Amino acid sequence: MKVFVTQPILEPGISILKKAGHTVRVYPKDAIIPRAELLKGVRGVHAILSMLTNRIDSAVLRAAGPQLKIVANYAVGYDNIDLAAAKKRGVFVTNTPEVLTESVAVFTYALLLAIAKRIPEADRFVRAGKYRGWGPKLFLGAATLGRTLGLVGAGRIGSIVAQLAKGGLGMKLLYTDVKRNKKFEAATGATFKTLPALLAAADYVTLHVPLLPSTRHLIGTKQFKMMKKTAFLINTARGPVVDERALVEALKTKQIAGAAIDVYEFEPKLAPGLIKLENIILTPHMASAGLETRQRMSELAATNIIQALHGKKPPHLITP
Ligand code: GLV
Ligand code: GLV
Repeated sequence: MKVFVTQPILEPGISILKKAGHTVRVYPKDAIIPRAELLKGVRGVHAILSMLTNRIDSAVLRAAGPQLKIVANYAVGYDNIDLAAAKKRGVFVTNTPEVLTESVAVFTYALLLAIAKRIPEADRFVRAGKYRGWGPKLFLGAATLGRTLGLVGAGRIGSIVAQLAKGGLGMKLLYTDVKRNKKFEAATGATFKTLPALLAAADYVTLHVPLLPSTRHLIGTKQFKMMKKTAFLINTARGPVVDERALVEALKTKQIAGAAIDVYEFEPKLAPGLIKLENIILTPHMASAGLETRQRMSELAATNIIQALHGKKPPHLITP
């Protein structure tokens, strides 16, 4: 059967699909596929291996045709896919969970340390030829040992971030989610708080929720005001969870001390003023970009497709 891959991915996924007898077409450019090319590329295929940058809505599903069996997203998040439209057409939607948990969690932990210790900012300083010798006030950083980490979202990624922060830095852990999560508490020892209580108490706040109508702009002007002036925000989840203009304002006015973000509200566009700020680390949505992780995601997406095309339930089914 026919599989369309919307952007070149690492092996072994493509080989696995071909070995299983499927015809695979990969969009040849290593760039986000333009909408018109996407609509053309999916025509007549049985499976779409999609990126999180592709909006898979009813127009795309319709363009593919009634033979379409599965949209296998090359990501753990799937806010780019219209699940209701897929369900209506009986199209499976799958993601690639678990294999990227550790990469994202370790990256988050690295951002926490990098923003606290101002490493990218200091690197820019040295490269700009501004280093004139050791100084007692040069690049004062924030303490991390034993400080309080607030985790927003008690899923798999949040759980590993919590364990790293506790094991590595002895951080005190608070968390919030739609409801208490006993499994998360058992794994991390974190204490449940409401979002306002967490924001008021945390020295570092890290976001690990999916993008849903209920989590869009979860952190905005009001929430920044609840945070400590010495606190840092880390976002490796989804950009729209944070009101990015409010973030720029909060950083400009020193409402919070700093932020480290890997995701943006209108990717790849940045809110006005964002890159002018020094007290922020900006990375290009790369938290899951471990070499082995991306290979495992490739394998998983291929496995999901093969199962679906054999009329079986794929292992990482989201809907229907
Ligand atoms: C990355 O953002 C993912 O959802 O996999
Ligand atoms: C010390 O440097 C600390 O991060 O707590």
